[in-house]
Amino acid sequence: MQERIDELLAAARAELSQAGSDAALEAWRVAHLGRRSALTGILRSIRDLPPDERRAAGQAANAARQSLEEALAAHRDSLSRREDESGADVTMPGYPVRLGRLHPLTRTLREIRAVLAPLGFRAVSGPEVEWDRYNFELLNIPADHPARDMWDTFHLQQQARPGDLLLRTHTSPVQARVMEQVRPPVRVIVPGKVYRYENRDASHESEFMQVEGLAIDEHITMADLRGTLTHFVRAMFGPDRELRIRASYFPFTEPSAEAEMSCHACDGGGCSVCGGSGWIEILGAGMVHPTVLANVGYDPEVYQGFAFGMGVERIAMLKYGVTDIRSFYRNDLRFLRQFH
Ligand code: PHE
Repeated sequence: MQERIDELLAAARAELSQAGSDAALEAWRVAHLGRRSALTGILRSIRDLPPDERRAAGQAANAARQSLEEALAAHRDSLSRREDESGADVTMPGYPVRLGRLHPLTRTLREIRAVLAPLGFRAVSGPEVEWDRYNFELLNIPADHPARDMWDTFHLQQQARPGDLLLRTHTSPVQARVMEQVRPPVRVIVPGKVYRYENRDASHESEFMQVEGLAIDEHITMADLRGTLTHFVRAMFGPDRELRIRASYFPFTEPSAEAEMSCHACDGGGCSVCGGSGWIEILGAGMVHPTVLANVGYDPEVYQGFAFGMGVERIAMLKYGVTDIRSFYRNDLRFLRQFH
């Protein structure tokens, strides 16, 4: 009996080492451990043996069965761990795939566009390397004008002359570019990168983004500007925001304004976000200067309109409570992953 069992075991083991697939393993299991297998036959026949042989035979057959079951499990394991042709262990757990997400500035920019689009503002773009003429001259800032000090400029040539190339210091030059191309009515926004020769700190970057807005038609008034900006701050910062307009100065608008909204953090009561005043400055704006209109060939007696310009980083900082503008450009994943 023991001999027969040993033979069976040897044959089964030899066959098992050849099995290379799940199907082959299953066929082997049926053949060697199944109801019709030789080993099962032996186990069944034990009761026909003389009583004094049963115990030893039973133990031998059961041990054989157990060893075959173990061999099967071990082989199945080694099969599933087998390497593919490239040498990679195909059963190793994979690396988790991290979902990418939009940069907070991209999200803010998209939101600004989505808020203004229903009012009819179409997004256009212009060059970042710009002529002095568009960045300054046509915007009523001649070469000797002290207002040039408002924008610390990267010049691409040594001397500042009207024919010079520079990195645009704001998106306002695109106002002139658009008006040169189309007749009123005009309603555009200009999202884009701008450059200033600044000392970088928590609230200043030398490269940042702006969104310009421009609306020109007959009969546009400052009330339209107010209405547009009120809609904007409420859509961006909540329905309870109030808008306040304070006198300011830009060479290309008259009158010029600084738009402020009631603080979204304290609802106007005064807190650290608004410096205790209850109001937060969010953008520069004004009615397009008649000289600018004339410069692009519009008749200021017929057409007028408003313009505004905002810093995208500033809007994003207010929206997300970011206190250092440089965080947006450090590519620190611990920062970026916080924006869903
Ligand atoms: N271009 C101005 C700036 O960068 C902002 C502005 C745009 C002001 C349009 C008025 C009208 O400071």
